Amino acid sequence: MSSIIVTGGRPLTGSVRVAGAKNSALKLMAAALLAPGESVIRNVPEISDVQVMAEVLEHLGARVGRDGDVLSIDAGDITSVETPYELVAQMRASIVVLGPLVARFGRARVAMPGGCNIGSRKIDMHVHGLEQLGAHIEFEHGYIEASAPEGLTGAHVILDFPSVGATENLLMAAVLASGVTTIENAAREPEIGDLVDMLVAMGASIVGRGSSTLKVTGVDALAPAEHATVGDRIEAGTFLAAAAITGGEVTVSGFDPAHLEMVITKMRQAGCTFELGPDRATVRREGALRPVDVATLPFPGFPTDMQAQFMAMMAIADGACLITENVFENRFMFADELKRMGADIDIEGHRALVRGVAKLEGAPVRSPDLRGGAALVLAGLAAEGETRVTDVHHIVRGYEDFAGKLAVLGAGVRMEDD
Ligand code: UD1
Repeated sequence: MSSIIVTGGRPLTGSVRVAGAKNSALKLMAAALLAPGESVIRNVPEISDVQVMAEVLEHLGARVGRDGDVLSIDAGDITSVETPYELVAQMRASIVVLGPLVARFGRARVAMPGGCNIGSRKIDMHVHGLEQLGAHIEFEHGYIEASAPEGLTGAHVILDFPSVGATENLLMAAVLASGVTTIENAAREPEIGDLVDMLVAMGASIVGRGSSTLKVTGVDALAPAEHATVGDRIEAGTFLAAAAITGGEVTVSGFDPAHLEMVITKMRQAGCTFELGPDRATVRREGALRPVDVATLPFPGFPTDMQAQFMAMMAIADGACLITENVFENRFMFADELKRMGADIDIEGHRALVRGVAKLEGAPVRSPDLRGGAALVLAGLAAEGETRVTDVHHIVRGYEDFAGKLAVLGAGVRMEDD
C-alpha cells in the first residue's frame, strides 16, 4: 500500500462523509490518561496516527479497545510514565501526553521529537508553560523529564504564539493543578474546543472555550467520560478542493462548515459556489478557477493544513496569485513535486508565486508529508494522463480510506503496492 495511481480528467460528483478530526482524536485519547477508569471516544478516524497514539497509551499501561469508530481507553492501571523515541519519532503529537502524565502522576518522561520535515516545530512553549505551572524540567539523553512531586500549581501563562499543541498540553496539565491557570494567546482551533468539551465532561472547570483566554480552575480528580470527536474540517476541505479542482459538484457531510469559513470564502472568490447546511457543504465549480491570494494564520485564519490543497487548485487558475505560509517554515516541499507536473511556481522564503497553467500533466511524484501528499493526489485528478503518488504512508497517517472515498466520487484512483 505505498502508491496511489490517479487517472486525471474526471469531474468528481456525489457525496462523501468525513471522519472525526485527526487533530482532535489524538488529544482526546491523551486526555483519557487524566482519569482512572474507562473513557469512550466516538467518531474516531481509522488512520495510522490514531494507531500510533493507541500504542503510546498501551505502552504506558492503558488498555485500548476499538469497535468500529468507537475507542475505549482504560487508564485505571498506568504502569509507566515514559514514552520512548520509537513512538515519538513516528508521531510528533505524542508529546501531548506530557501534560496529562505530569498532572496526574507528578512525573513524565517523553522522548524529544526529532526534526520534522515541515519546519523546526519547536516545543519551547510546551516546556516554559509547564515550568510556570511548577514542573521541574530536565533534558537528558534525548528525553524531556518533567516532575512535580507535590503537584502542579495554577499560573498565568502567555503564549508567544497561539500554538495548538502547547495550548492543549497546558490545558491538560492545568485541569489537575491546584488553583487557577489562565492561558493567554491560546490557540482557538475547533479541535481545542472539542478537547475542552471532553475535559469538562470529565469534571474539569474551564471558562473561555473558543476564545484566546482560557481560565482553568484545577480540581482534585477527574472521572472518565464519553465524548464524540468533532468532524474533520481539513478532510472536508480536501474533498471540497478535489471537487473544485476537477470542476465537479460534491456534497461533504460530517463536519461544521463554520469551522472552514475562511477556506470557503477563498474558494468562493476563486469561482466556486456553495450551499451550506449545519453539518455539510455542497461545492460546485463550472467556470475557470480564478487566482486568489491566501496567507496561512492560526484559526480563524486560513489553515496551514489546507495550504497545499489550495496551491494545487491555484496551479490551474486563470492567472497568478501569492500564497504565504506564516505558521510553519519549510512547508512548500510538495510545490517542487507539483512543478514536475507542469505547475509554474516560484518560491521565495515563505511566499510562493503561483502562475496558473492551462493544464497539469500526470507524472510520478513523491508525497513529502501528509497534506502535501493529499494535494498531489488532487493535482493528479485534474492532470492529463496518469500520476503515481508514492510514499502514501504520509497520507494514511491522516486520511481514512482516502482513495476509496475519492473512488466513490468517480475519481480514477487505485492503491498499489510497490
Ligand atoms: C497542530 C496540528 C497541525 C497543524 C498545526 C497548526 C496536530 C496533531 N497537528 O500542530 O496539523 O498544522 O497545529 O494548525 O494537532 N512552535 C514553537 N514552539 C512551541 C510550539 C510551536 O515555536 O513550543 C511553533 C511551531 O514550530 C510552528 C508554530 O509554532 O511554527 C505552530 O505550531 P503548533 O500550533 O504548535 O502546531 P502543532 O500543535 O505542532
